[in-house]
Amino acid sequence: LPAMVNNLTTTHHLKSTLPYNKLSKKLKAVTLQEAIAFKNDDDGDIVIPNQEFSQQAHVPSFEKYLEMYKRSVEDPAGFWSEIASEFYWKKKWGDQVYSENLDIRKGKINIEWFKGGMTNICYNCLDKNIDSGNGEKIAIHWEGNEPGLDGSLTYNQLLDRVCQLANYLKENGVKKGDSVIIYLPMLMELPIAMLACARIGAVHSVVFAGFSSESLVQRIMDCKPKIVITCNAVRRGTKVINLKDIVDAALLESSKEGTSIGLCLTYANELAMKKEATKWQKERDVWWQDVVPECSTKCDVEWVDAEDPLFLLYTSGSTGKPKGVLHTTGGYMVYTATTFKYAFDYKPSDIYWCTADCGWITGHSYVSYGPLLNGATVVVFEGAPNYPDPGRCWDIVDKYKVTLFYTAPTLVRSLMRDGNEARILFDLSFFFYVTRRSRKSLRVLGSVGEPINPKSWRWFYDVVGDSRCPISDTWWQTETGGFMMTPLPGAWPQKPGSTTFPFFGFRYISCLLSYVKCPAIVDEKGKELEGECSGYLCIKHSWPGAFRTLYGDQERYETTYFSAFPGYYFSGDGCSRDKDGYHWLTGRVDDVINVSGHRIGTAEVESALVLHPQCAEAAVVGVEHEVKGQCIYAFVTPIEGVEYSEDLRKSLVLSVRTHIGAFAAPEKIHWAPGLPKTRSGKIMRRILRKIASRQLDELGDTSTLADPHVVDQLIDLADK
Ligand code: WTA
Repeated sequence: LPAMVNNLTTTHHLKSTLPYNKLSKKLKAVTLQEAIAFKNDDDGDIVIPNQEFSQQAHVPSFEKYLEMYKRSVEDPAGFWSEIASEFYWKKKWGDQVYSENLDIRKGKINIEWFKGGMTNICYNCLDKNIDSGNGEKIAIHWEGNEPGLDGSLTYNQLLDRVCQLANYLKENGVKKGDSVIIYLPMLMELPIAMLACARIGAVHSVVFAGFSSESLVQRIMDCKPKIVITCNAVRRGTKVINLKDIVDAALLESSKEGTSIGLCLTYANELAMKKEATKWQKERDVWWQDVVPECSTKCDVEWVDAEDPLFLLYTSGSTGKPKGVLHTTGGYMVYTATTFKYAFDYKPSDIYWCTADCGWITGHSYVSYGPLLNGATVVVFEGAPNYPDPGRCWDIVDKYKVTLFYTAPTLVRSLMRDGNEARILFDLSFFFYVTRRSRKSLRVLGSVGEPINPKSWRWFYDVVGDSRCPISDTWWQTETGGFMMTPLPGAWPQKPGSTTFPFFGFRYISCLLSYVKCPAIVDEKGKELEGECSGYLCIKHSWPGAFRTLYGDQERYETTYFSAFPGYYFSGDGCSRDKDGYHWLTGRVDDVINVSGHRIGTAEVESALVLHPQCAEAAVVGVEHEVKGQCIYAFVTPIEGVEYSEDLRKSLVLSVRTHIGAFAAPEKIHWAPGLPKTRSGKIMRRILRKIASRQLDELGDTSTLADPHVVDQLIDLADK
């Protein structure tokens, strides 16, 4: 066996051109799983799937994956239209399942899937599941911030609630194609509002309720919503956040700038704030509870074209202004449902909990649409994962018998610190935060948002999952709509920290082993790299869940994503591939940083800092952070004559909080008499990154700087 396996894997890594159908008999004699596992026995951590799990999985083996993958890339139209047929379509799509141009040299970038097909995603999430007998199944278990405060909705009840709101929106003039801004915390009303918009063909734009009023203004000015939906306040942990005040300030500001919003539908969250205590503008504000329950629970569906917009979601890029990522209906529906099903090995008996907020893409695709399209029971959690103590997540897992648990590495790291490390020596109870609950319902764990380092992966796997549950480390983006790379649980061995292999649908395959070519990894010149390599992660062909444009700015869409490497969509991420074909994300290669899984553009933080009257110049870089993954590190030059002081530092941080939101606050302000610039005035961020991470012996060549002396000054001020 060893010789055979060696032989086999060598062929594999030599990128043999062996056609799939002539695949060596040897490969059939021993599964690839065994081969890889064997090969890696002594040169790296590897986790072999449990046989029992694999046997019951949708994709039980690597061979089965390859078979499906091969079909998906050789016949994308057939593969995806077969899956799409499982949904309800009022009218089937035209002859052409998809059309695309991802090559900027050939003209306008264009992606379309299922064009001409008429459907409705809300109908597919609710009515269709009810029609198939699941009306009394729980759709949402809602867990409030305070333990003991909870609620639930069956599919029937959820449909009633959605219809009532949809009718209210219609009565107030919201029509197909209009946009609606939703600024809500994780109440059940958030997914309800999204689904209500979708039901009537309105385009929702959810703004994460941690964004400041200025960020809200920016989004209101960009998409000009008919209505804003919010609530008066929310409790998160021990804090009460007055959301209505933030919205009031935003609506005032946007009306000054020429966009007046006539209706602000406000949910009264009385546990956080009494109605009477809420500031109110009679002619504009309406309490949700006063009007929505009066509306009919029946609301006809607006059938929309597969390519009609479903939602806008603003995300950060490397320049200042947030980008309105636009997703359409049909392809997004098919893609989120399919990725959810396979990546979590979803079965109807599962109870699924994703800790993300619906203000981010993860909450769109994998709190709301993906799971509901599959008829799943979803836990929606309002609170903070460490309140009232760091064991809250495991309390919730046991309370609802959660089987699929999907979260971000930052949460894993924060709980790991509280639960199982040095502090255990001081207080044994920290360890019991995890072990005080059985967690035995768990079946599959998931991770998203940033690379999960092998140590956290191991803790997640061994401690949380009792070495029993496969981890789906899902790589994707706001732009991709759904998972692009992820392990399929049970299908192949896992290497802690690797997102493993591409999801179905990356086209370009002529032989078994060339699967490693897609997703494409390219060098600086855009040449595709093969086998073991490291480079920029690009995608060559469209997939149903892809975003279609940046709202109102096709040009920015094309230049940001399609011109760096003509012929490809460029993700902005670096990636390497090891000798076994496993993929490892290495982080953003542009000026975007990832703080606790939240995507923040350094340029946005810089503009917030320079808006401070005493800031002359600012440069922001990301540095590694034990819990947050990365944190924001800002170099600030105050204006002439202003002294460095603790007060100034605080008010600079406050400036970022008010212009963007608390989650973007810099961890460190480093005083800078000057910034390292080239003679042409360009800031050399490479040097700033090294100073920020105190890698002072790796500063490299500083002789090209206009004034190399600034580097010494910065080093002197490092801890001041
Ligand atoms: C990063 C979140 C490594 C990546 C869904 C990407 C990841 C950015 C992973 C998108 C992962 C997401 N491993 N990195 N499993 N998942 N990322 O748009 O840098 O908020 O480009 O979407 O998060 O962030 P976004």
